[in-house]
Parts: sequence; structure tokens; C-alpha cells
Amino acid sequence: MRAVVYKRYGPPEVLQLTEVEKPTPKNNEVLIKTHATTVTSADWRVRSLNVPVGFGFISRLFFGVARPRQPILGTEIAGEIESVGKDVSQFKAGDRVFALSDTSMGCHAEYKCMPADGAVALKPPNLTYDEAAALSFGGTTALDFFRRGKLRSGESVLVNGASGAVGTAAVQLARYFGADVTGLCSSANVELVRSLGASQVIDYTKEDFTQKGESYDIIVDTAGTAPYSRCKASLKKGGRLLLVLGGLPDMLQIPWVSMTSSKQVIAGPAAGRPEDLRFLAGLAEAGAFKPVIDRRYRFEQIVEAHRYVDTGRKKGNVIITLERDD
Ligand SMILES: NC(=O)c1ccc[n+]([C@@H]2O[C@H](COP(=O)([O-])OP(=O)(O)OC[C@H]3O[C@@H](n4cnc5c(N)ncnc54)[C@H](OP(=O)(O)O)[C@@H]3O)[C@@H](O)[C@H]2O)c1
Repeated sequence: MRAVVYKRYGPPEVLQLTEVEKPTPKNNEVLIKTHATTVTSADWRVRSLNVPVGFGFISRLFFGVARPRQPILGTEIAGEIESVGKDVSQFKAGDRVFALSDTSMGCHAEYKCMPADGAVALKPPNLTYDEAAALSFGGTTALDFFRRGKLRSGESVLVNGASGAVGTAAVQLARYFGADVTGLCSSANVELVRSLGASQVIDYTKEDFTQKGESYDIIVDTAGTAPYSRCKASLKKGGRLLLVLGGLPDMLQIPWVSMTSSKQVIAGPAAGRPEDLRFLAGLAEAGAFKPVIDRRYRFEQIVEAHRYVDTGRKKGNVIITLERDD
């Protein structure tokens, strides 16, 4: 099968489309034929090892010290199950599914094996494969942070980086959970963020949200520009800062903030649970959640796709399409 392989950390040009052995599902696995995948901020970070402050060494330990341990990137996939292992009862050949392989990666390939009890779910019938491929990365990250931050209906939520993959999911999910949402983005993305359900949108190139005299129950920072030191006065009593993007110094102050104030900082990697994929699929089927698609590239154009994702300015999700019949 064809896969995009990299043998050393570096710029998009380290990626090569090449032939590798097609995987065979283990007894508890499904083999998915890829119809669409995505290039996410995680692919950019793992490929380049451009990681938040303090995580360089930890990242190398996790992903491979001298060179990548997993030579194929890609965290998300949508496609059709080609075959299943002998112990699999939840899925059958022909099922249309989407999946999140998360830090195990490996989705930039024509075929991908996933544990049947892992983060795999049936594709909502009303979503295209492109849309389904983009359901899980931003969606599960936002869901996990809102769960840890105990988001309640009626609360006010500010989303910084509201136009990215996580941000566009966070705006929609906060709105779904009954929050009043303010989005923070650049001028070009104001209308997009409003269309996702934000009641107010602040253009960070024109206004500083910390100087507006507003405060929020929850601030979600996906851009790394709203650390606790900057936004503590913008958090209400009992407020929570959800640091989707935070460096080690931000994390080290978490216990201190909890001990000395009514506020909380929540950070760390998000978990992508199988039940979260099913939840997102249900929302998408009901029309309450829709992944935002920015650009599409063919498999052969993956280097170009990475170059675009590396800018840090994508709107929602970047899709990689593979040959298919639909
Ligand atoms: N903790 C976790 O488990 C976890 C999970 C997923 C992602 N992440 C991290 O979260 C970050 C966001 O991920 P993503 O996939 O949503 O990234 P993304 O799709 O690339 O989006 C980044 C967004 O940031 C916005 N942005 C750039 N500069 C900004 C600034 N100065 N102020 C406000 N917004 C700014 C951009 O919007 P404009 O063009 O409008 O500025 C862009 O839409 C990444 O760094 C990723 O590594 C962490």
C-alpha cells in the first residue's frame, strides 16, 4: 500500500509518499481502507518537534529520541472496513467508519488497523468521508477539556483561537452545552466564528480581551496567548482556564493557582475516548455539530498540505483525500 513516511524530524519536505507493507488486522482489530484523513496541528508538532516550551525532551522520549519511532503520521481517518479480526463483533466488513489514532498516529496510509474497542465509530450517514475524517481531533479535545473544566449550561466561555480545529469544535460544543460563547480570532475569521454560534466575536488584532472589563466562567486557550498571568482578571470567581496549548512553566503553576485562589488552570493531553466519538457522531447526525473544512489536498500533495498547516493559520481542518468511488 502507499503511505507517507518520514525518517527524521524536520520541515514538510522530510515526508515521502512510498510503498510499505499493507497491515493485517490482529484478532481484536479492524482494517480500515482510508477514504480521507487530515493534517492536524499534532502532525505538524510531531513531524517538526516544534513543541511547547519545556516539552522538547519529553516529546523525543515519547516519539523517538534520534528519529521517529512511528514513521507514519496522521491522527484521524474515515473510510470503509475491509476486514475484521476473528474476535471482532462490533464491526463488519463494509461498515463506514471514522477513527482517532491520536498519538499512535499511522493514518497517512491507504490502510490502517485499529483496535475494534478503541476510538472507532460508525460514520454519521449525513456526513461525507471528508467531514467524518475531521470529526474527532478537535471534537474530542474540546469535549475532554470541557469535561475536566466541568462546563455547565448558562456559563460564559471565551475561546481563544476560535477558528482552528480545536477552536471551531469548542465554540460549537460550548454552545451545544448551553454556554454563552465569545470567540477570539483574527479579522478574516470573524464571520466564520459567529456562524458557529458565538454570540460575540473579538478580533484580537484590533482589541485586547483583557482590557474590555468582561469576565468569563471558562477561558479556553488554543493559541498559547492567554496564559494565567494574562487572563486571571478576566476569569470570574470559580473560573477555569483550559490550557489546550500550554508550556511546562504554565503547568507547574497549576497547584499554586488552586491553593491561592478560587480559580483553576486545567492542562495536559486530551483523551480521545470511543464514547466521545459516538457522542460527536450523534451530534453531527442531529445537525448540532459540523467539522469546519478549510482546504482539501490529494494524498500526493501531502507536503503542500503540511506547509499550509505549519502556518498555524488554518481555519478548522485540512483534509487529505484518497482515491475512492463515492
Ligand atoms: N492538549 C492537547 O491534548 C491538545 C490537543 C489538540 C491540540 N493541541 C494544541 O492546541 C493548539 C491548537 O490546535 P489546533 O489544531 O486548533 O490548531 P490550528 O487548527 O492550527 O489553529 C490554530 C488557530 O490559532 C489561531 N491563532 C494564531 N495566532 C493567534 C493569536 N496570536 N491569537 C489568537 N489566535 C491565534 C489561528 O487563527 P487566526 O488565523 O484567526 O489567528 C488558528 O485558527 C496547537 O498548538 C496544538 O498543538 C493540544
